[in-house]
Amino acid sequence: MNYESVPLRDFKELNNWETVMFLYQSALKQIDTKIDILNDEFQHRHKYNPIEHVKSRIKTPESIIKKLKRHNYEFSMENMVRYINDIAGIRITCSFTSDIYLIADMISKQNDLTILSVKDYMKNPKKSGYRSYHMLVTTPVFLSDSVIDTKVEIQIRTVAQDFWATLEHKMHYKFEGDGPDYITTELRKCAEYIAELDSRMEELNNEIQKYGKKSE
Ligand code: GTP
Ligand code: MG
Repeated sequence: MNYESVPLRDFKELNNWETVMFLYQSALKQIDTKIDILNDEFQHRHKYNPIEHVKSRIKTPESIIKKLKRHNYEFSMENMVRYINDIAGIRITCSFTSDIYLIADMISKQNDLTILSVKDYMKNPKKSGYRSYHMLVTTPVFLSDSVIDTKVEIQIRTVAQDFWATLEHKMHYKFEGDGPDYITTELRKCAEYIAELDSRMEELNNEIQKYGKKSE
């Protein structure tokens, strides 16, 4: 039998925390597998791995509640599935910025995924200096009697951008918000160095690729 897919906010068991979390977990698994397949296929076809690491996580209940509060929403399952976009999150790190766009392009061509939004924080870095590429997608999760479109946030970064974001996140955690000015200023400077480094490494890689493989 065919079922029309419905967004998670219209799911009949939206009041059941375990079931909703199971859906996010399943959606994450699906995206994880898709990314794995794309990477394997790329290796198989081009003898090249665009992806260095993939890390996925489900947001903890504490952090879901905190985020709803921060955005002035009452805690309810409806608000949670509607307003929190990163309950299921996956982070892909790669070597070069060109890999980021390559991966984003491969993901956007998967026609069972719906792209809800794209934020290119390389073209438009955040005030903090943050650079990455974010995609918010939904993937249909097939249950025995329904198909539920479930949101997953995909972050794609270079290894260097990830290094920066981890330290900047640590600062926020430590100071429970913005850190001292001299640290945020220095971090912003480092983000620019990293953008410059990423671009020079990419140019170097292109130069290296121009040379044919030496026969062994
Ligand atoms: P939240 O920041 O999660 O409330 O959502 P948003 O709607 O602002 O989405 P956005 O795409 O800007 O950010 C989502 C996620 O990206 C965050 O949860 C972080 O993981 C990461 N992120 C965004 N901005 C920064 C930043 O300035 N520093 C660091 N370290 N991470 C960031
Ligand atoms: Mg934000």
